[in-house]
Amino acid sequence: MSTPRFQLRSSIGKKLLNGLTGVLLLLFIVAHLAGNLTIFVGKDALNAYAATTHSLGPLLIVIELGLAAVFLVHAGSAISVWRDNQAARDTRYMVSKSKGAASKQTVASRTMIITGLVLLAFLILHLWQFRFGPTTPAYQTTLPGHAGEVWNLHLIVVETFKNPIWTALYVVVMILLGFHLRHGFWSAFQSIGALNPKLRPIAFSAGVVFAIVIAVGFLLLPIFVYLAPDPNAGVLGLVKP
Ligand code: HEM
Repeated sequence: MSTPRFQLRSSIGKKLLNGLTGVLLLLFIVAHLAGNLTIFVGKDALNAYAATTHSLGPLLIVIELGLAAVFLVHAGSAISVWRDNQAARDTRYMVSKSKGAASKQTVASRTMIITGLVLLAFLILHLWQFRFGPTTPAYQTTLPGHAGEVWNLHLIVVETFKNPIWTALYVVVMILLGFHLRHGFWSAFQSIGALNPKLRPIAFSAGVVFAIVIAVGFLLLPIFVYLAPDPNAGVLGLVKP
């Protein structure tokens, strides 16, 4: 049987793991948004970005497997901590009912498990749509300065977001992503012990800014593709049919 001390240690270990993987995912999300923003330059810019990452070959596979492991450990540790908290809450409730202390929780912090699970489900759908999207000859194109043909990822993105249902779904998920990041940002740094009383309020406010920038940055893309008469031309395609 495990001692309370061991349980405490393992619960701290899970939070640390969740925080470390959370920080790595924050870095990934920033890099991913930067790559996505190339669509505002135009078709060739997005396809060149995809061609560059895919030219990494086996190294890309290694990076992707590492990323998948980080996602799984992040989700697994979060679910485990949530279950521990639920069990602890039930026990506390049986021993003594609420002492009426003021709660510092936010909507974002209380819904982390829900927004996290939605993001996990979204990720499976998302990878199927884009990472493992069609590669038939119809989805190959030329790229200035490149010999031969490259994958026309831009066409897949445009076909997806010209459909209002996909655009609406992505907008909703990106808003949920914003909620997840609003709490997740500062909580990740808190869990790895990077915050002191002075830094904590700064990280808390930075989390709000970060969440808004990332969510708005991501959701602009489907809206842009849906509205632009000619998304191939990037932002110019908003005015030039
Ligand atoms: C509007 C929002 C988003 C759009 C349009 C978008 C678009 C894309 C595209 C086009 C790819 C394929 C890249 C390639 O194969 O070269 C991709 C891959 C990926 N996306 Fe997103 N993405 C969005 C949001 C997200 C979010 C919120 C997450 C994480 C929670 C995410 C996680 C991933 C992952 C893990 C990959 C695979 C990366 C790889 O294996 O190289 N995406 N996304």
